[in-house]
Amino acid sequence: MENSHNFIGRNLFDLDDWSADEIQAVLDATKVMKEVNQRDYKKLPILRGKTVCTLFFENSTRTLMSFELAADRLSADLVRFSANVSSLHKGESLQDTVYTVDAMGIDLYIIRHSYPGSPQLVHKYTGKPVLNAGDGPHAHPTQALLDMFSIWERTGTLKGLKVTIVGDVAHSRVVRSNLIGLKKMGANVTICGPKTLMPGYMQEVYGCKVEYDLKTALKNADAVMGLRMQLERQSDGLFPSLEEYTKLFTLSEETMRYAKKDALILHPGPMNRGVEILPGIADSDRSLILEQVTNGVAVRMALLFLILGGKL
Ligand code: CP
Repeated sequence: MENSHNFIGRNLFDLDDWSADEIQAVLDATKVMKEVNQRDYKKLPILRGKTVCTLFFENSTRTLMSFELAADRLSADLVRFSANVSSLHKGESLQDTVYTVDAMGIDLYIIRHSYPGSPQLVHKYTGKPVLNAGDGPHAHPTQALLDMFSIWERTGTLKGLKVTIVGDVAHSRVVRSNLIGLKKMGANVTICGPKTLMPGYMQEVYGCKVEYDLKTALKNADAVMGLRMQLERQSDGLFPSLEEYTKLFTLSEETMRYAKKDALILHPGPMNRGVEILPGIADSDRSLILEQVTNGVAVRMALLFLILGGKL
């Protein structure tokens, strides 16, 4: 596999900076990395001598572990900054923290932070490539890449597919990155959720269709993604009750009948079973939810390989 120089040293703040051809190149590289992950011996020596740092200021299971596994599989050195046990608690600023970590000789950063724009700040302070692992409600581009890969691997194309994304659009960074990426790849995206969780500008800014009725939104969908209902925001009074939300927006056997018979089911996780999705759908044969997690390792290996200039 060739490593095009277009990728070396690049940041991944969100998918708006990456062309459709570049996204396709990531999907192709992910396929190769997935094959590596299916071997008995899964390790490649291609990033030996490079050092990757994960800077996580918010909780994560999938994104953190899969980035760390990806670095390990490619033989990069990995250093983890854990906000909870760091000198942030002694009053050190983000800027000084990043200067301090960078003085140890880091080649690439992966950051998750509640502040939109924090990946850009880390790049400004270090000059090193930065991958956004989720910045507040703004963007989560590696999640979108693994979601797109999971669909593309099954269908062979994203062009012309109807993808319906359902749930708490207002607070979701996953939906924003998916809208950018899927549109670039030629998919038609419909988003659906309660009006109180749907910003008024979505159609205009992202070129997607907006529906408030789940059955209409699901009609003839090729792939359906549930979004996590952010239960911590329930006290904001954005919907009357969880029961009300569930009655109108849950992905269930009954509502999924409106999508195509073999429609793929996705969810970025973590899931609230019984709220945005019922177990019978989440665990069904057409659910890609655990496959998405598997693919998350491969897509992050592909990104590290391409950006750090690894050779196969
Ligand atoms: N999908 C996702 O970002 O999951 P984590 O919060 O577990 O990383």
